[in-house]
Amino acid sequence: MQQASSLDGRRADVAAAWSLARGAVVVPSGIHVPIQGTDQFHEFHAHPEFAYLAGAQTPGAVLVFDPAEGWALFAPVASLEDRVWVGDGVDHAELGQRIGLPVRPLAEFERWIERRRSEPVAILGNHDIVRQSRAYGAASWASLELEIDESLGERLSEQVSEARRAKDTGEVALMRAAAEASAAGHLFALRHAHPGMTERQLEIEVEAAFFRAGAERTAYGTIVGTGSNGAVLHFAPTDRVLRDGEVVLIDAGAEFGGYASDVTRTFPAGRRFEGAHRDLYELVLAVQQAAIAAAKPGVEYRELHLAACSQMAAGLVDLGLCKGSVQDLVERDAHALFFPHGLGHMLGLSTHDAGGCLAGRAPSDRFGLKWLRADLPLQPGYVVTIEPGLYFIKALLDDPSRRRDFADCVEWSKVDALREFGGIRIEDDVLITESGSEVLTAGIPKTIPEIETLRAQAFDS
Ligand code: GLY
Ligand code: MN
Ligand code: MN
Repeated sequence: MQQASSLDGRRADVAAAWSLARGAVVVPSGIHVPIQGTDQFHEFHAHPEFAYLAGAQTPGAVLVFDPAEGWALFAPVASLEDRVWVGDGVDHAELGQRIGLPVRPLAEFERWIERRRSEPVAILGNHDIVRQSRAYGAASWASLELEIDESLGERLSEQVSEARRAKDTGEVALMRAAAEASAAGHLFALRHAHPGMTERQLEIEVEAAFFRAGAERTAYGTIVGTGSNGAVLHFAPTDRVLRDGEVVLIDAGAEFGGYASDVTRTFPAGRRFEGAHRDLYELVLAVQQAAIAAAKPGVEYRELHLAACSQMAAGLVDLGLCKGSVQDLVERDAHALFFPHGLGHMLGLSTHDAGGCLAGRAPSDRFGLKWLRADLPLQPGYVVTIEPGLYFIKALLDDPSRRRDFADCVEWSKVDALREFGGIRIEDDVLITESGSEVLTAGIPKTIPEIETLRAQAFDS
C-alpha cells in the first residue's frame, strides 16, 4: 500500500510543476461502462492519472485541485440499492486517512465546480464526465457553463506523465509484488506444460497461479501462442494443442495495487530446444541480455532498440537467414521482417505506460521504428520492459513487395522452411537504478539450461 505521506509529496510535486495561479483541475476516475444489451458492466479500471494522484481506484469519483484550496476528493456515497446489492463501499473517513485527502460526498461536486465558472478549468483523467456529468452527481455539462481550457489540460496531463515516469519506493514495492505473482504463473507453465495441453488450458493455469500468488488481476489479456500462433504478436489463446517439437510463447503479467508486470517466456513443448529452435532462442536471449546490460541512466531507449536491431541482424546473417552488411540490413528495415516491434515500453499503472515518448518526439513512420513505444533517455526509477523477439510472420513474409524489396538480402528458401515455426520473445521488467538496472522479473528463468531443467520436471514428475 502507498503511504499518505508519499502521496502528499507526489501531489505537491505535481502542483508545483503545474504552477497554476488560478483555475481548477478536475480528474475523474471514470464510471462503470455498461455491456450493451445486458445488465452487466465491463471490469472497472480507474484512469491512471486519477489512480496516480489520488492513490485510490474509486469508481465514479472526482479528484479536484485549485491553487487556493489545494486537493480534495469527491467520492460517491452508497445508495440504499448499492448497499443491498454490492455493499456499503469504502468508508470516506478511512479512505481520506489512507490517501491523505479530504474526502467529500460526490453530491457536493456540482457546487464546487460551479463556483469556478469564470476560471479556466482543466480536465485530466477520464473525460467521460463531459458526456456523463450526471453519473458524477452534476447537472448536464452544458448547463454548468464551464470554461474548459483544452490546451491547459494537455500541458498538465503531460506534466503528470513526466512525474509518473520515475517510480517511488511505494510504487516499486507494488511492482515487485506484481512481478512475484507473474513469476509464480510462468514457473508453473515451465514446470507443467506438456504436449496435448491447449493454449487455453495453459492460460487458465498461468492466471490461476498469478491469483494464488496474490495478483489482483491480469495486467492485460494473456497471450499464449503455440507453434505458428507464436508469430502473432498479441495472440489470444485458443483450443490449439501444444505439439512436441514446437515452442510455446506465453506473454502474461499479473497486476497488483494497480501496477502491471509484463513478462514473456518462450520454451519447448518437449524437454529440449531442438536444432534451429535452439539457435534462434540463443540469438534472442543474447540480444535481450545485451540490452539489459546496457540499460542505465542517461542511455537513450531508442539507441538500445537500434543496437538490439543490429545485433539481431548480425545473428540472422550468422544463421544464414539474411545476407549483406548489418548496417545496410538495419537501414533498410530488413531485420524488422523478423523483429517488427520495439524493444519495449514504459511500465507502471498501465502496461504500455504513459510518458513513453518525451514531449515533442513522435514515433517515426519507418517500419522498423513505428512500433517503438519508448523514446526517451532512461533515468533512475523508470521501469521499462526489454522484450526483443524473432518471428516468422506469414503476413510479412508473404507480402510480394517485401519479397521483392528484400530479394537480395534475405535467404528466402531458408526463411520459408521456417514459416510454421512461430516466434520467440523474451521479456523482462527492468528498473533503472542509479548505477545501472535491476531486473524485477529475474526470478523467472530464461537461459537454455535453466529452462531445460524445468521442462524435465514436466515429464519426470
Ligand atoms: N504484453 C504486451 C506487451 O508485451 O507489450
Ligand atoms: Mn511488453
Ligand atoms: Mn508482454
